[in-house]
Order: sequence, then structure tokens, then C-alpha cells
Amino acid sequence: NPPRIFVTRQLPGEALARLAVHTSPRVWPEPLPPPPDVLQAEAREAEGLITLLTDRVDEALLASAPHLRVVSNVAVGHDNIDVGACTARRIAVGNTPGVLTETTADFAFALLMGLARRVAEADAYVRAGQWRTWDPGLLLGPDVHGATLGIVGLGAIGAAVARRARGFGMRLLYVNRRARPELEAELGLTRVDKATLLAQSDVVSLHVPLTPDTRHWLGRAELASMKPGALLVNTARGPVVDQSALVDAIQSGHLGGAALDVTDPEPLPLDSPLLKLPRVLLAPHIASASHATRGRMASMAVDNLLAALEGRRPPNCVNPEIYQP
Ligand code: GLV
Ligand code: GLV
Repeated sequence: NPPRIFVTRQLPGEALARLAVHTSPRVWPEPLPPPPDVLQAEAREAEGLITLLTDRVDEALLASAPHLRVVSNVAVGHDNIDVGACTARRIAVGNTPGVLTETTADFAFALLMGLARRVAEADAYVRAGQWRTWDPGLLLGPDVHGATLGIVGLGAIGAAVARRARGFGMRLLYVNRRARPELEAELGLTRVDKATLLAQSDVVSLHVPLTPDTRHWLGRAELASMKPGALLVNTARGPVVDQSALVDAIQSGHLGGAALDVTDPEPLPLDSPLLKLPRVLLAPHIASASHATRGRMASMAVDNLLAALEGRRPPNCVNPEIYQP
């Protein structure tokens, strides 16, 4: 019998057709994620899961999934999965790094530009019929060229953002657990400590994964230590920022604004104060959302899953130690 697979959503591109050649997939047909009890019931029978970042894979789910051999996430981030619990059960966890790097960096830069130069506010102003004349004081914002950009997390995406920023003549600071001298030389980056980055950056852009160490990395004290008028761009994960402290920092006028592709929680509740603040630019977690990249992510997730079912290490495996003898 072909192995039974549960896929938590319809995916763009050809990947699911390929999956069906080798396995017996069941695909959740709804636009919203399967409720946890449905996911758990499906996992009980499945040898593999293809999950999205909206699906929580925790110890309770794994404990009732005796046949499960692989969880393949259609995302580079895997904070929705208890990887330690998977490793303990020798269940492979796959993710999709690399293919979304440039697409995500493009969007981080779109947010940076859109926030600094007030693109969404300008659009709303014109559509609302408020545009009466060319006004020398209308919708002013800071320059992007020549500004100092602080990159938090110099992985592949952080480096791709740095490359774009260099083309804009920005001064580049970064914090990262390890120094990246080759990128410093290539891109003119300077490694600094967290306090220096926060104090000197006109724009801070977040590119770290969500882990216990990075949760609320930008807390109330850190926000207060940012340069007055500075901008925040978050394309990483919402909980990296203490969101209520962020709201206060913008409301008080200390920060110039924030552009958020990710929030805590997602989606934002409709009474979130973020929705009322004009200097906040919001997007529904779409940084990797190009046609090509979303197709490649789905394809990579299928490759990871099929490899694990054949007993091979997935091309992109978060817990490769399970393949050590
Ligand atoms: C998206 O947020 C991802 O982790 O791929
Ligand atoms: C603006 O459009 C200018 O000509 O300065």
C-alpha cells in the first residue's frame, strides 16, 4: 500500500500531483487550517505530514501518531514544530531554506521603502480624495539612501537584505551569534553589539528564527534604547518583538514606525491597536509569496517528505542527527 500522507492545505504548483504518484495523500480542502483535533486524527494514521507554519506539531500530536516518519514544513521557519520531540521519536523534520531567500529579502526591502516613504499612506490619501495640490510639506519621511540599517541575524536572508541595502548606499551594521568576516568584506558590514545596533540604526530589520533565545529579543527596554524616530521592519516572526511595547513606542512618538509582515498573534485581532496606527505598515505574512518561490517551496517540501519515506535523509532536514547510526 502507498504510504498515507496528510497535507494540511492545497499547495500552489505541481508538487501535490507528484506526491500522489508515490503516496496516498489526503489534502485538507479548506482555506483555514485544520483544527488541532482534525490534524491529530489524521496524524494517527499517517506516515508523513506536510504542514504549514499555522499547524502546531507538538508532543501530544506525536504521541498519538505511531506510524509517523516525517513532518515536512512548507516554510524555512519551524517554530510551529517541536523538533526535539520529533528527534526523540526519530521523525524527520524538513524545511525549505534557500529558495525563499531572495524573495523574502525583496519584500523586506519593499516594507522598508514603503514605511520610510509612506507609500500606503500616500495611496490612501489619493484614493480618499484628499489630494488638492502639490504641497511641499506633504507626507514627508526619512531618506533611505545614506541611512544606517541594523540587520538582526545575518543568515541567508539578512545577507540578501544587506546586498540590496548596499545598492541604496546605506551604512550597514549587524548582530549575529557568529562573525561573518567574508560577508563583512563583501558588503561593507560592521558587526556590533546589540546596544550599539539599537542606538545607531535608523532602520532595524529582523532576520532571526524564533527560538527561546529570540522571543521578545526586542523588548520594552530595547525599544526604548532605539534611536528616536527609528523604523522597525519585521519579516521574521512576530514574537521576536514585544508587540505591546512596540505599540507604546510608536504611540509615544519614540519610534518613527514599524512595517510588519509577521505579528503576534497571526492574524491580528481586529481590535489590535496596530490597526489604528498610521505609521504602521502591515502585511499578512507574505514575504515569500512570489509565484515561483511558493511553487518551489511546495516542491521542496514534497522532495523532503519522499526522501524520508524512502529512508534517506531529506535534502533539507532540520534534525539530521536521526540519520546517524
Ligand atoms: C515563512 O515565514 C517561512 O518561515 O518560510
Ligand atoms: C517634484 O516633482 C519636483 O519637480 O521637484
